Amino acid sequence: MRALIRDAVEGLRPYQTGKPIEELERELGITDIIKLASNENPLGSSPKALDALREKLNTLHLYPDGAAFTFRTALAESLGVGFDEVVVGNGSNELLMLIARTFIRPGEAGLIPAYAFAVYPIALATVGAPFQVIPTLPNYVTDLDGMLEAIRPETKLVYLAHPNNPTGTHLPGEALRRFVGEAPEGVIIVLDEAYSEYADAPDYINAMSLRGLRERLIITRTFSKCYGLAGARVGYAVGPVEMMGYLHRVRDPFNCNLVAQVMATAALSDHEFLARSVAHNARVGRRFMSLLDDMADLGVTYTPSQTNFILVETPFEAGVVYDALLRRGVIVRPMGGYQIPRGLRITIGTEAEIERCVLALRASLEALSA
Ligand SMILES: Cc1ncc(COP(=O)(O)O)c(C=O)c1O
Repeated sequence: MRALIRDAVEGLRPYQTGKPIEELERELGITDIIKLASNENPLGSSPKALDALREKLNTLHLYPDGAAFTFRTALAESLGVGFDEVVVGNGSNELLMLIARTFIRPGEAGLIPAYAFAVYPIALATVGAPFQVIPTLPNYVTDLDGMLEAIRPETKLVYLAHPNNPTGTHLPGEALRRFVGEAPEGVIIVLDEAYSEYADAPDYINAMSLRGLRERLIITRTFSKCYGLAGARVGYAVGPVEMMGYLHRVRDPFNCNLVAQVMATAALSDHEFLARSVAHNARVGRRFMSLLDDMADLGVTYTPSQTNFILVETPFEAGVVYDALLRRGVIVRPMGGYQIPRGLRITIGTEAEIERCVLALRASLEALSA
């Protein structure tokens, strides 16, 4: 009998999302839960996006514009690129997967850093591509020079998050410029800027400014984080017209839904909301770090972040601390699956949420130490 599925699929495991609040309510019968597990915007959605959606509610029986003309035009204008250099999608996640499906040929391989976003190995494994994982430098900094050296003739696709999830670290500017400029021209580099709006490191280089350095560079971004539209599912990719044309051939016909297009187009012009979200994240992030500093006596450490989450490490196995926090109504993300066995990734929520999370973390660690 013929085998049911491709070997590559047999080895895959479903992507683990942050635990939904309703699921924890059902499991533990508790209420008053906070979720700091999926890097959502604690300020909600852009008000302009919500207004735009209200105006279009009576058009949801119609298919969206499959070419997303209005949305892509607005995006292209705001980015200063051509309309045909932009592809939009069902979150940037879809585009990351689509890139592997479109460009990887039999015998070609991927290259990613250690502690990379979990979707990259899934995207590569789904198309049966082997991939190398390059260890990071100290403090979870991606070793771009090491990655450059690791490129082989079969290396076709490199995924880099800038800044990275789950470490919160960015790619150092000069090393990134070298990598993008010097990687062999056959290699496609994907720079995933899901969290770029939050990054403020002096040597942070906006990926768009690197486009002149190589042809095969694709930049992906999302409306899920700083624009507060995670539930609408909308992201985009920017790259050379020829490459974007191939993505259009492979994508689903209506991969960016009507709600997503309407909300994201409006959100794009909501500069006030974006600025407020960035400022809030910076302020609460600083407060969060100072509260974590106060827990050094309990063995708590963290990695300074360029994003809207912080990788926190404790002396205990992540799953154990995660469970203890769940029982206190606080959902975070354990990082065992990312090979950070004592790591928890915690979203920078509202100030009240962070204070509650820190209290719960202190109580959990004290109980575990007793
Ligand atoms: C680094 C990174 N890239 C991409 C995504 C995908 O985001 P979305 O599909 O919501 O656009 C995420 C989501 O958490 C992420 O952390």
